[in-house]
Amino acid sequence: MNQSITPLYNQLVVHSEKHPNSLHVPGHKYGVIFPEFAKSYFRELLRLDATELAGLDDLHSAEGVILEAETLLSQLYCVEKSYFLVNGSTVGNLAMIMAALTENDTVLVQRNCHKSVMNGIELAGAKAVFLGPDYHQEWGVSGGVSVEIIKKALDVYCDAKAVILTYPNYYGMVNNLEEIIKLAHSRNIPVLVDEAHGAHFISGGSFPKSAVQLGADIVVQSAHKTLPAMTMGSFLHVNSHRIDISLLERYLHILQSSSPSYPIMASLDLARSYLGTYSSEDQHFLNDQVKLFKERLNQLDGIRVMEYDDKGDLLKVTLQSACQYSGYELQTLFEQEGVYTELADPYNVLLVLPLLKENSHFPFQQIVEDIHRSLKNVRYINRVEKTADYMPIISTSVFNYKEMIQLQSKRVLLSDAIGEICAEKVIPYPPGIPLLLPGEIITLEIVEQIEVLIDLGARFQGTKHVYDRYLTIFTKK
Ligand SMILES: Cc1ncc(COP(=O)(O)O)c(C=O)c1O
Repeated sequence: MNQSITPLYNQLVVHSEKHPNSLHVPGHKYGVIFPEFAKSYFRELLRLDATELAGLDDLHSAEGVILEAETLLSQLYCVEKSYFLVNGSTVGNLAMIMAALTENDTVLVQRNCHKSVMNGIELAGAKAVFLGPDYHQEWGVSGGVSVEIIKKALDVYCDAKAVILTYPNYYGMVNNLEEIIKLAHSRNIPVLVDEAHGAHFISGGSFPKSAVQLGADIVVQSAHKTLPAMTMGSFLHVNSHRIDISLLERYLHILQSSSPSYPIMASLDLARSYLGTYSSEDQHFLNDQVKLFKERLNQLDGIRVMEYDDKGDLLKVTLQSACQYSGYELQTLFEQEGVYTELADPYNVLLVLPLLKENSHFPFQQIVEDIHRSLKNVRYINRVEKTADYMPIISTSVFNYKEMIQLQSKRVLLSDAIGEICAEKVIPYPPGIPLLLPGEIITLEIVEQIEVLIDLGARFQGTKHVYDRYLTIFTKK
């Protein structure tokens, strides 16, 4: 099918060109009723902010232009079915998990997954087995789960009903997902992949393979993160006889708005077409641009551009501090020069680059100059790694989430928490991998590790009481 066409977007434009009088929702009436001072920014977009009118189809019962647009999407990714999502990968993860799992099912899940994955497991009432990811010492960041950990977990938890993984990680690193999928499929266990950061991988070239191409059963992607789509616009792909598609659709209906945004859906249609027409010339152009950008950045004092052994994502550039500033401080310095980055951690600042097509312009040179200016006061420091030993482990929760909701909790001293059941997430940065999750038993080793991490100056996001050596534990009902 011709990937250059954009049926949903075109139909919206046709509708808008009719200059329709709106006697329906939304209340802004294609922008006629709107605060005057904000009109100049919103005007054109509001002309496309329609609703389920004749010719515009219905996301929840697609049979016209939305179905056509979703079919183009499934053809691009070569899958059985694809869906537009208007509430981010968040809703995709929830629906995929609820479709695959039911109450008390055992699920193997990557420990450092996005919160929507844990929330999905909670809603399904499943029992999570947490799989520790690898840790990339030089980068100071966590990666994916190893084949060895998956093998061990599948042997112990042979009743597992699904494996849920994140691929790639935020920094664009990938792991041996193909082997993991083969292993799980050899036991007929579906693999659900949160590919929030990899919607563009399908364009091939120097990008890693998409989880879709590696045989995952369901893949969820935040199109808005790396494709030219509006925020919240995402994709869900299903390609499996192990998943009940009607159940998946049922949860998508339950969890998504009954008034999905047409501008978001049209932007997904356009993003799919942009990706579907991405050529090898575009790839070469992008490769050259990124290479040059990294070379220029590498010449600046105070930062170094991280390179990843395995084939990582070209759109992610990690700058590691080689000066007196932490990653967080560097991010602030960059912002003072007008350069806004995706995230910072204690050591690094992460940049997300655009999926450029041939001859399109992006101000790389300007950005290098701005970053250069922000680094005027740096002193070179050879970074010394300060993390405690980390060994990936497999662990479980004593209670499922439904049981935990019924329980009370209280704060106790670390030393009194040994043998108790944790009632919160404890996530030290670095390495950013949860040390404790709700429902896990607090062992002496974990308490000792927390002590060491506090002494090393690790940060614990959202759990300030940990610095005072307190933990929240469950008390009996
Ligand atoms: C790995 C991962 N999964 C899921 C999500 C949620 O995606 P969305 O913002 O599209 O809902 C994020 C968001 O940052 C993420 O990083």
